[in-house]
Amino acid sequence: MLELPRAKTIIEPFRIKSVEPIRLLPASERDRVIHEAGYNLFKVRAQDVTFDLLTDSGTSAMSARQWAGIMVGDESYAGSPSFQRFETAVRGLTGFDNVIPTHQGRSAEFLLMQALELKAGDVVIGNTHFDTTRANIEHSGAEALDLPCPETADTQSNAPFKGNIDLEALSLFLKKNAPRVRLVIITATNNSVGGQPVSMKNIRGAQRILEPYGIPLFLDAARFAENAFFIKQREKEFQGKEVRDIAREMFSHCDGALMSAKKDAFGNIGGFLAIRDPALAEAVRNLMVITEGFPTYGGLAGRDLEALAIGLEEILDEDYLTYRIRSTEYFGEGVQAAGLKVIRPIGGHAVYIDAGAALPHVPWNEYPGQSLSVALYHHIGIRSVEVGSVMLGSRNPTTGEERPAPRELVRLAIPRRVYTQSHVDYMIEMIGHLAKHLGELRGYAFTYQAPVLRHFTAKFTPLA
Ligand SMILES: Cc1ncc(COP(=O)(O)O)c(C=O)c1O
Repeated sequence: MLELPRAKTIIEPFRIKSVEPIRLLPASERDRVIHEAGYNLFKVRAQDVTFDLLTDSGTSAMSARQWAGIMVGDESYAGSPSFQRFETAVRGLTGFDNVIPTHQGRSAEFLLMQALELKAGDVVIGNTHFDTTRANIEHSGAEALDLPCPETADTQSNAPFKGNIDLEALSLFLKKNAPRVRLVIITATNNSVGGQPVSMKNIRGAQRILEPYGIPLFLDAARFAENAFFIKQREKEFQGKEVRDIAREMFSHCDGALMSAKKDAFGNIGGFLAIRDPALAEAVRNLMVITEGFPTYGGLAGRDLEALAIGLEEILDEDYLTYRIRSTEYFGEGVQAAGLKVIRPIGGHAVYIDAGAALPHVPWNEYPGQSLSVALYHHIGIRSVEVGSVMLGSRNPTTGEERPAPRELVRLAIPRRVYTQSHVDYMIEMIGHLAKHLGELRGYAFTYQAPVLRHFTAKFTPLA
């Protein structure tokens, strides 16, 4: 037996059976496209994009097994075997008996908040609530409180678990306010702080703190497998453990989970709630028939449930997870080597560029993130998303005065199993060329903005 060194090249642990062409439009064409879109990438047609890194949600490539599952999906209104297979998969993974499919993550959030009958004065705490979670909590009348760990504030530190909840702050808050706190949600990985993981120690700690108060702990499990893999890599106790067992332990410290299955279930649509308490599950089931449908299909087709059950199993393949986490990191390292500052360490599903640092000559109210994301499309064909003062800045409704977002970022989210290493190398190379011209990029001004969620529909003009 020859002893060969381990390969440095990361390979995609799959081969390709079905392909979709991507268009390499000339830059002059993209010039027209972006102008006609009012310099808003949400308004660009997908067929005019070469690398679509707008989101990792619902954009995964399904496997041959998942497509085969689509064909055997059973569409019976009640008692469908596809639901039974989905239920078995979710029960096996989470250990929760009550499995309730929903059409996507935010409907699971809506149903949970409604079933808890939240009211004004109630508080739901999170490590950092994802924006739809926050919206659903606030829609129910309660307050959504974020308690991220202090390490999150330094975007350049390589702390291993920057997604953690601040346990000290949680304890302190509960000492004074426990009767008002109805639920704690840990989002793993923590999307809103750059896809950073949560440690097992942190999840165990939260459970220990909450138990005496009887406050339920839920896991937002949209990216549970990526989080479990980070635990294996970074938390000593788990180095030899299987990711499946790590994931099971993550769920075991919680009272329930909600999941957007559009991420770590390789689904193009779907979500679920998995709940220990049968009474709470019953309340959800009673509510959902009004909007989602019968509790065994929850707004999905039987074929979707079938594909998700298979996806939940495939996501735990450690060769896949090694490739997924390393290839995202490789992309981030390449972008950094090309001359752009990125959030450290690189998260699980996306690379975040610090556009404020890249374009110091563009002030926040001329939107450096918008400028960089437009340039990435215009010159390379990459669709990214601005996560800065366009998306998160706020405007005083009476005076019109603007307030900046905490950071001016551009997010490059990586769809699962979609782009290859040569795609990534091409993007890194072209970003290197673009980086030499950052000083020439100009700011933008709004020519139209809606009163809420303005980033989706806004129009801009480049400044002279
Ligand atoms: C952590 C997290 N929770 C919830 C959601 C909402 O899920 P969905 O888009 O399926 O409604 C998302 C979506 O991006 C997410 O990242």
